Amino acid sequence: MAHVLMKFGGGLITTKSKMKTIDERAIAKLSGLIKQLLDLDNRVTIVHGAGSFGHLKAKEWKIAEGAKPSILMEQKQAVKSIRADMLELNRLLCDSLTTLDVDSQSFPPSQWATEVGPNFLGDLTPIVNCDDSVVPITFGDVVNCSEPNLFGILSGDDLMVRLGKEIPTITHCIFLLGDTEGLLSAPPSDPNSELVRIWNSKMPISGEHDKQQDVTGGIFLKLNSASKISRVVENVWFIDGRRPERVLELLNSGNTRGTQIVP
Ligand code: IPE
Repeated sequence: MAHVLMKFGGGLITTKSKMKTIDERAIAKLSGLIKQLLDLDNRVTIVHGAGSFGHLKAKEWKIAEGAKPSILMEQKQAVKSIRADMLELNRLLCDSLTTLDVDSQSFPPSQWATEVGPNFLGDLTPIVNCDDSVVPITFGDVVNCSEPNLFGILSGDDLMVRLGKEIPTITHCIFLLGDTEGLLSAPPSDPNSELVRIWNSKMPISGEHDKQQDVTGGIFLKLNSASKISRVVENVWFIDGRRPERVLELLNSGNTRGTQIVP
């Protein structure tokens, strides 16, 4: 039996550039994957990103930079609105699981976490000790921070680091990506770009950070997070989220097409 911690990237479950648009087909496939994993007696813990339910408004109102006196009223309104949007996205995912008779329980970070980055504060034990018949789900969110920032963006990648380290039963930690098969040797636009099959933090990366839409760290934060987890979890992978069957293949055979992150 495996315990799989998975992150659904925001670019996988939403269309990143179009305000609050979900990818219904992708979500249905991912729910099917969770159902299959549970039917095979595995445990599953989920973290999801924000995509167009978080990044667009966060970018517009500079939420990741913290409170700015000249626009504080508007920022406070945006914080409320992003939190509501994230709850809505989370609800859509949970509803999709319910249609397959999968019970889930949501843990919205704005309600239990403060501060940003992997050392954020908050009690993870309700997620760690969640009944194994239920799929715990948490997500990247706007959280309260101490002064002068007042608020900030806690990324799902940071939640992955803490859950990967603090849930002792985790055997697999998988980042499901929306637009690539794993880590590429060069930006996707480069014709020589190839899938990197195995990566450790001493290897160079030539990434692109999509500052247009992304208010968290993009591929760099993801690699850094995965690298930290690989020190405690044996199987840490980046896999193409449009091909959920690769997760099952990894569990069955110990290998699949994707990038394995090693310490
Ligand atoms: C971002 O979380 C949260 C908000 C912008 C509110 P993530 O960093 O985990 O989201 P994605 O995966 O990049 O969309």
